[in-house]
Amino acid sequence: MGAGFYITTPIYYVNDVPHIGHAYCTVVADVVARYQRLAGKDVFFLTGTDEHGQKVEKAANARGLAPLEHCDLMVRPFKDLWRRYQISNDDFIRTTEERHERVVAKIYQRLYEQGDIFKSLYEGWYCIHEETFWPENRLVDGNCPDCGRPVEWLEEESYYFRTSAYVDKLLKHIELHPDFIRPGSRRNEVVSFIKSGVEDISVSRTSIKWGIKVPFDTEHVIYVWFDALINYLSAVGYLYDEEKFTRFWPPVHFLGKDIIKFHAVIWPCMLMALEIPLPKAIMATGFWTLGEQKISKSRGQVIDPIELSDEFGVDAVRYFFTREVPLGQDGEFSRSALIGRINHDLANDLGNLLNRTLPMIERYFDALIPERGEELALTADLISESAAIISRYHELMENFELRPALQEIWKLVAKANKFIDEAAPWALFKAQKDAQLREVIYDLAETIRIIAQLITPFMPATGKKIYEQLGLVADPSDIRFDSGLVWGYLRAGTKTNRAAPLFPRIEEKEKR
Ligand code: MSP
Repeated sequence: MGAGFYITTPIYYVNDVPHIGHAYCTVVADVVARYQRLAGKDVFFLTGTDEHGQKVEKAANARGLAPLEHCDLMVRPFKDLWRRYQISNDDFIRTTEERHERVVAKIYQRLYEQGDIFKSLYEGWYCIHEETFWPENRLVDGNCPDCGRPVEWLEEESYYFRTSAYVDKLLKHIELHPDFIRPGSRRNEVVSFIKSGVEDISVSRTSIKWGIKVPFDTEHVIYVWFDALINYLSAVGYLYDEEKFTRFWPPVHFLGKDIIKFHAVIWPCMLMALEIPLPKAIMATGFWTLGEQKISKSRGQVIDPIELSDEFGVDAVRYFFTREVPLGQDGEFSRSALIGRINHDLANDLGNLLNRTLPMIERYFDALIPERGEELALTADLISESAAIISRYHELMENFELRPALQEIWKLVAKANKFIDEAAPWALFKAQKDAQLREVIYDLAETIRIIAQLITPFMPATGKKIYEQLGLVADPSDIRFDSGLVWGYLRAGTKTNRAAPLFPRIEEKEKR
């Protein structure tokens, strides 16, 4: 097993520009990648684009462009969005790249030679939108059971992948590794799907041209999902960079719940056929909905992630994504809920903590972090509470429990706000209890710094801004937890820089 930490997002179809659902999936994976880096792991965080298949070909045709030209244009908005959202991916794979196509062809060839890919006649229904084949009995009123669109009848010679040969072994793996498919509700869904019987799947097409050719039969193009899943191997050096591959494999996959079967059934069967260890975890995220409908371009509901971040700021949106719903569950998107989070959690709780503390440092200590003084029961309690929260935070973050981890951080925010009231620095100042005042102010400043360090995976720009206000020049994204979460990192004599509030309140109707 590799010593590194490998995490992936789905690779997105380039038939249209990215929307909020894509941004969500990528942000949550980014939070985990950033956390693992700060925890000292050697991280490889991958995202990319899925550029073959009928859906992309159709979109290119509609614009009068050659498919590759269309893809070259459409990849830009994805890359721009990731830059905007401070996504820290280490690589970006496009399925039209040679490094990918070569690996797909080699894998196809090997599976054919070992008899796991074989030729047969395909007759059946196909949904272009979902790029999925459906047996007759799964159709709903003759339409695709997932998206409700009409399906088309296909009759062609096709190569099949022998999924059925591996499903029993897969079922055992799922039973032995309860954390393989998460959350548990998805695992149950996959298990009952497998138990209902998995057939061999068609993995080539002759009716379309836009794809990777079957190496030994160039009339056929490789099925887009078979091609796409292999990105997780081709980007990490499989068959061409042994060192990289063994360093990082196996991965943790983050993906939406709509594509769980591809990732939790077909993909593991492909890996077993190739004798490659299965992923560490397959984490299925939920949907953002509007009026209980999945938000999607084709349904005409558009929330543009760029406009959203223009209006509210990237960190506020990143916070909302991770704080509003438990990972894996659906969430109804609402502007008022977003504003509510900004006003209460960010402007009020976190913002006030800074806005109360920094002026006291200015007033009592000329804006210089004081030496520690005389420990009090109250300060000892703050320090031990912070240590307890840090250890729960690690436990939760290791398990991708992002929302509970944020809730822990906000317990520390609340604790620190309460500490100010109870320690009443203004009274210590008045009574000239200098040693106590120094301890109270130092501990408060240090708690704020720890909070900034803890929120950095979620809100990297905010973590940095808080560090700046405390007078620290290093970016907390560059400070590993083994030093950044140690009490006492903040040095006496550091000059603070109070700045404008991090999150001004938004005066608009909000939901609570
Ligand atoms: N290309 C395939 C993935 C191949 S991975 C080997 C694909 N692409 S996609 O662009 O259609 O969708 C990518 C992801 O975006 C899916 O996992 C999907 O769940 C997610 N989202 C799309 N709309 C969404 C919401 N409204 N809410 C949250 N995520 C959703 O599928």
